Amino acid sequence: MEVVVLAAGKGTRMYSSQPKVLHSIGGQAMLERVLTTASKLKPKNMHVVVGFGADAIEAHFANSPLSSLNWVTQSEQLGTGHAVQQAISEIDTSTDDNQVLVLFGDVPLISEATLQDLIAQSGPDTLSLLTVVTPEPHGLGRIIRNDLAQVEAIVEHRDANAQQLLINEINTGIMAIPAAKLARWLNMIGNNNEQKEYYLTDIVALAAKEGCKVTATQASDDKEVMGVNDKVQLALLERHYQGQKMEALLRSGVTLRDPTRVDVRGNLTCGRDVEIDSNVIFEGNVALSDNVIIGANTVIKDAKIGAGTQILAGTHIDGAEIGEHVTIGPTARIRPGTVLHNNVKVGNFVEIKKSTLGEGSKANHLAYIGDAVLGTNCNIGAGTIFCNYDGANKHKTVIGNNVFVGSNSVLVAPVALQDNAFVAAGSVINTDVPSEHLAVARGKQRNIAGWKRPTKDTGSH
Ligand code: UD1
Ligand code: MG
Repeated sequence: MEVVVLAAGKGTRMYSSQPKVLHSIGGQAMLERVLTTASKLKPKNMHVVVGFGADAIEAHFANSPLSSLNWVTQSEQLGTGHAVQQAISEIDTSTDDNQVLVLFGDVPLISEATLQDLIAQSGPDTLSLLTVVTPEPHGLGRIIRNDLAQVEAIVEHRDANAQQLLINEINTGIMAIPAAKLARWLNMIGNNNEQKEYYLTDIVALAAKEGCKVTATQASDDKEVMGVNDKVQLALLERHYQGQKMEALLRSGVTLRDPTRVDVRGNLTCGRDVEIDSNVIFEGNVALSDNVIIGANTVIKDAKIGAGTQILAGTHIDGAEIGEHVTIGPTARIRPGTVLHNNVKVGNFVEIKKSTLGEGSKANHLAYIGDAVLGTNCNIGAGTIFCNYDGANKHKTVIGNNVFVGSNSVLVAPVALQDNAFVAAGSVINTDVPSEHLAVARGKQRNIAGWKRPTKDTGSH
């Protein structure tokens, strides 16, 4: 079996400079979804027909783990039949034992199971169509059946007569075709129709006329086979996709306070007794262990969160590994390269970047920690800034165990604070502090006796 994915169309109604098939559903480009699903069928090759925005599309897949992608250019979009024709020289058409599965790059939710069903129907003497019965067939190709209910043809909406327009079984565009016959049929279709296009759908009438069997597998879920032509349909499928994700999470035992207000744009795995509040977005790969609680209005991307950890409202986490029984937030920002060990506490308005906090360490309020390694049980006071950038280069701060940094201190990197060091509040630390020492680095306080407050100038001279 070989796969041909049609993705050359411009997507005019998206009103976007980005090719349509790169718009995403659930955080993944539509074309990537289609190709990922198709790859599970283990085809010999996947040919992708591209035209509009071909460079951007190919660039998108430059580092893709999908193997055996064959890019085929269709410089002028003369119809779906013409599009498949562009790939035909790269397909093994010597035998009808080879099946060609045609998919659309803008039908993102097609499932592996449905495609398996379709493939199971097709064979050397069978053309297999995926159809769906819909209350809204407008604009779509109608499935024409004879008195014996056998499929005879597909008629495009714009070429259909009044009676045909009443048919509500439509062509999804997805079909499996014996390869040698496909090559022959493609040479026989013309563009004598309302759109002056070479319709792939015209091969169905050719097949029926030759006595080649045409089967129609009906998809049960019309969203699964729905194509995206504009942002309304993109949003509709996004909601459908998220709805399915949320149902799966609920069924696996995750508590969602409001399943319509959680979005997963990537992969989310959850342990037992996980609770997720409202307006939460997960991106990339996120793994939540048992008893994790995610507060409202949080965004979590590419993160592992250990058992019993609580992420409080308004927190952003990106690229972090977080241990067990950690508390973060409300309104904290954890940036890439951060590792928080067990029982760490990060409070409100704390930003942490590319830093490791050892077990039990705390930064409870208003701090910036960047490019640092902290040992266990440290306390970073409110208003502390790790000054990691000298205007040209980034430098590291290394802190031992049980270090206390008083409020409103600045640690000018590179600098080291050894075990049990204590920094007095308001200090600017730019030299290392040895173990067990107190560092005070601030102006000395003077109390001036008898000082008179200024009095208000009345202006009455
Ligand atoms: C097509 C089908 C129609 C079906 C509908 C389902 C044909 C003639 N019609 O119509 O029966 O009901 O899909 O959505 O096949 N493409 C190319 N090159 C081209 C033309 C199209 O790559 O020259 C790609 C598009 O990017 C798109 C797909 O093929 O991904 C379908 O093309 P589109 O123009 O949307 O076809 P429809 O008119 O919707
Ligand atoms: Mg379409």
